[in-house]
Amino acid sequence: MDYSQKISERMWNLPDKGEAESRREETFMDDIIQKDHIERKLLSRLEGIQTVFDGGAGCGRFSILLAKQGCKVTHFDISQSMLDKARELAEQAGVLDRIDFVKGALEDLSGYADRSFDLVVSFDAPISYTYPNQERVIGELVRIAKKRVMFSVSSRLGTLPYFSNPIQKNSFILDENSEDSWVQWCISNRQNAIDSFRFEKSRVEQLALDGLLGGETEIEEYEQGGAPWCITYTFLPDELESLLQSFGVKNIELAGPGAYARTLPREILVKIMKDPQQREDFLDFCCQYDSNRFVCGMGKDNLFAMGDL
Ligand SMILES: C[S@@+](CC[C@H](N)C(=O)[O-])C[C@H]1O[C@@H](n2cnc3c(N)ncnc32)[C@H](O)[C@@H]1O
Repeated sequence: MDYSQKISERMWNLPDKGEAESRREETFMDDIIQKDHIERKLLSRLEGIQTVFDGGAGCGRFSILLAKQGCKVTHFDISQSMLDKARELAEQAGVLDRIDFVKGALEDLSGYADRSFDLVVSFDAPISYTYPNQERVIGELVRIAKKRVMFSVSSRLGTLPYFSNPIQKNSFILDENSEDSWVQWCISNRQNAIDSFRFEKSRVEQLALDGLLGGETEIEEYEQGGAPWCITYTFLPDELESLLQSFGVKNIELAGPGAYARTLPREILVKIMKDPQQREDFLDFCCQYDSNRFVCGMGKDNLFAMGDL
């Protein structure tokens, strides 16, 4: 088994992971925008879709939404902690009977026949966590899809600005009084992050070149019993598009959820988000703007792609 898979399995299996993931949209506005973008795309393309495979489905943000729309969903994930949380939320939503929960790794989809599901989705980067198998995994996800695929993977162009802006996440905090530990860490660590920051050209150039986040340090930490962040492969838009084309995907649309919001200061974003009508209008416009393929590299840190078979 590759280190990526072992590291991913241990990290996502941390006991509080499912609970923390299920609360993401309460804390950071970029997460709200990204989730909303994916929801809008999903809901606008469900005609003729009855069966769905959600690969790396986490705590069920999208599998539960799809089940609520009447789809029969296979919720597939490597983490028991995530599966447990998803099952609990699916029960609360009254859709347990429409979701099959399966523990497994995206690296092995051999149990599924070609064209098994009308729609195959994988959101918020599970594909990127399968490095060095990410291309084969995309091929396998396309293989088991009959009508359509929708993925969001880690974006190289979207990630590069984080290297020069260690306080970027602060710009998206919705409520500074939130008790969320990450929000509080971002706030208390802000000045230290600025003081200790140095622009390291070699680091950004390296990521621009190989697209890889993590490696030897994560492997070492894992070997010492730690649970580091997954080794992550970040994609370029043209690379992802060519890959999907090579597997026979047609009518490919790319998007960069979060690109428009990145141009706005936090104070303005908070103002918009606190007014229900402005928030709805804004999220709708973000989805339109962020779907322009000329900005798709500048989304939050995800690159969205969908296409037909
Ligand atoms: C950031 S979460 C996204 C969850 C969900 N797709 C969403 O958007 O809410 C990444 C998920 O991918 C799962 N994952 C990571 N590596 C995986 C692998 N190799 N096979 C299957 N699932 C994996 C993790 O357990 C986690 O639930």
